[in-house]
Amino acid sequence: MQAVREWLKQARNVAALTGAGVSAESGVPTFRGNNGLWKQRRPEELATPGAFARDPKLVWEWYNWRRGVLAEVKPNPGHYALAELEQRLSAFTLITQNVDGLHLRAGSRNVLQVHGSIWNLRCLICEQERVDRRTPLPEIPPTCECGGMLRPGGVWFGEALPRDIWREAEAAARSADLFLVIGTSAVVYPAAGLAQIAKASGARVVEINIEETAISNGIDSFLQGPSGKLLPQLIA
Ligand code: OAD
Repeated sequence: MQAVREWLKQARNVAALTGAGVSAESGVPTFRGNNGLWKQRRPEELATPGAFARDPKLVWEWYNWRRGVLAEVKPNPGHYALAELEQRLSAFTLITQNVDGLHLRAGSRNVLQVHGSIWNLRCLICEQERVDRRTPLPEIPPTCECGGMLRPGGVWFGEALPRDIWREAEAAARSADLFLVIGTSAVVYPAAGLAQIAKASGARVVEINIEETAISNGIDSFLQGPSGKLLPQLIA
């Protein structure tokens, strides 16, 4: 911890990649843990374009449930510590795989939501995106003014990440001298590849997680523990 604090003090350009673990202490279910969402359901049944084409109502029921959970939760000390870190540094980019919006609610500003937002809906016909925070949505599947069916706006398996946001994320990983990887199993690409990009570009890579992950070998430091506890300690 002490060494990482020093690296943080020396760093001019810091980026962080977060995953579901950073929201776990807020009460948001992760995907791959013991009680993870993908223990009960396979991603192919719920989070692919094929799944939506087959059964949009089932997919929307699942999203309605998740949106309901997220409407009740609050950012935790880990989210707040990252927002505070941004205030203190001249260059800080927060790249998140999370669709829950909790980093923004905690006050982080330079946030790249590489998997989109669960609060966005997109029309299959006119492709317009809108924010809709109602929980539950009054009708599912919801419809657009143009008559088209609305889909959840986030990125599904098998889909490309939003191009401009992804470019910014890659650039942030390339220019960082310290790269933090927090609360992600680091198995979903391309997001997981950002740690390698940062490392190959000369950054120190530090991971914070309750357990080792796919990228724990070959990084500069692994801090084991809950991010809601370790992040406030790191910036203290
Ligand atoms: P995962 O569920 O795969 O991984 C969560 C990680 O958080 C695990 O490595 C846990 O050990 C760790 N963790 C749990 N509680 C923690 C805590 N309190 N503090 C720190 N770490 C903790 O979630 P992601 O890596 O975010 O994509 O999953 C990546 C993507 O797969 C998601 O964005 C989603 C999913 O399918 C899409 O839906 C496209």
